Amino acid sequence: MTSQSTITLIPVTPCDQASSAQSGDASMRERSGDLRNYWYAAAQSIEVSAKKPLSVIIMETRIVLWRNAQQQAVALRDRCLHRNTFLSPGDITELGIKCPYHGWTFDDQGVCVNVPSEGENGKSYPNRKVQSFPTQEAYGLVWVWMGYGEPDASRPPFPMPHYQEEGWTTYYMKTHFNNGVTSLVENFMDVPHTVFVHKGWFRDRKKLRVESSVERTADSVLVTYHGQDSIGFTERVLNPKRLPMQHTDNFYMPNNTRVDYIYGDNERGFVISSTCTPINDFQSTVFTFICYKFGWANPLFRFFMPWYTRQVIQQDVEIMENQGKSLQEQGPDFKSTPADTLHLFIESLREHSQTEGKDAQGQPLPAPPAMTRSVTFWI
Ligand code: FES
Ligand SMILES: [Fe+2]
Repeated sequence: MTSQSTITLIPVTPCDQASSAQSGDASMRERSGDLRNYWYAAAQSIEVSAKKPLSVIIMETRIVLWRNAQQQAVALRDRCLHRNTFLSPGDITELGIKCPYHGWTFDDQGVCVNVPSEGENGKSYPNRKVQSFPTQEAYGLVWVWMGYGEPDASRPPFPMPHYQEEGWTTYYMKTHFNNGVTSLVENFMDVPHTVFVHKGWFRDRKKLRVESSVERTADSVLVTYHGQDSIGFTERVLNPKRLPMQHTDNFYMPNNTRVDYIYGDNERGFVISSTCTPINDFQSTVFTFICYKFGWANPLFRFFMPWYTRQVIQQDVEIMENQGKSLQEQGPDFKSTPADTLHLFIESLREHSQTEGKDAQGQPLPAPPAMTRSVTFWI
């Protein structure tokens, strides 16, 4: 005969509070202020299946992803309610995800639908719930809403340009970086580093004077370059007609960059977009969406481009690891020149969001004002 347990069950502590209490520090998600109130890319759609759970970390929060019977992506805190085992090595069953330790099973809302030890066929505990996260799929990615409330409709996932657009060849690269999101988005927008970090690969130092305008809006930093810039392989091979190149580097809050090299009137182009998902303060997962339109030459570049872009990104992985280690050991103490205007603009927007527009005493601070600066530098 099965007897009912008489042990008084301790109420389940919300996961975030529990982890903070143990570490003594707030988790990154808690410390992120308004930065958490966005959709963050968790995985490529092709990585999330109905067969095998996938474990990811976003803002120091472990999340398990899988697809339910309707093929919708599900995201739960990767932590069993029972004895806190990771759920992600468990099996996906008809009922939901089954913990590998004692078989507690949670449905796609995180509700405990079966505890096998509590009956011949187990027993459900409808009031016990693993934290679940809103998900959506867009542009070939699964996005997770990291805010505590409902998703904000005015903040959709970052739209990847030219996705499934005719004439454009596209692919993703997923890269682990040992550096934080602010450093990474600045790196992806930064032109002066390219003649050092990517020397011979992307851009060579020609002692060229570069004119640019750098605009800060409420939620973006938009850089337009004027003049004779060129990037290595495109100029020599892909722009035979020597069409003028329009180069823009844009940052969109909180973690997205888009770099466009467009030739002529959108006749040809190469666009690199990145969305950076923070794992913690010094590690990130970056989803880079590459698209190119080289006309008849597109098929010729099918194998070259993924190889080439991987080499270039690897050079950034190395310099970002260097900077990340230094920042972690020694803390930030930056000196800037006019060429760093976009860096300062990005830092101001992200910091204002993280502090929710308040100073250390909780007093409101004005938002960084919209402005445009003309910036000249040499590469
Ligand atoms: S720890 Fe998950 S069922 Fe026991
Ligand atoms: Fe770079």
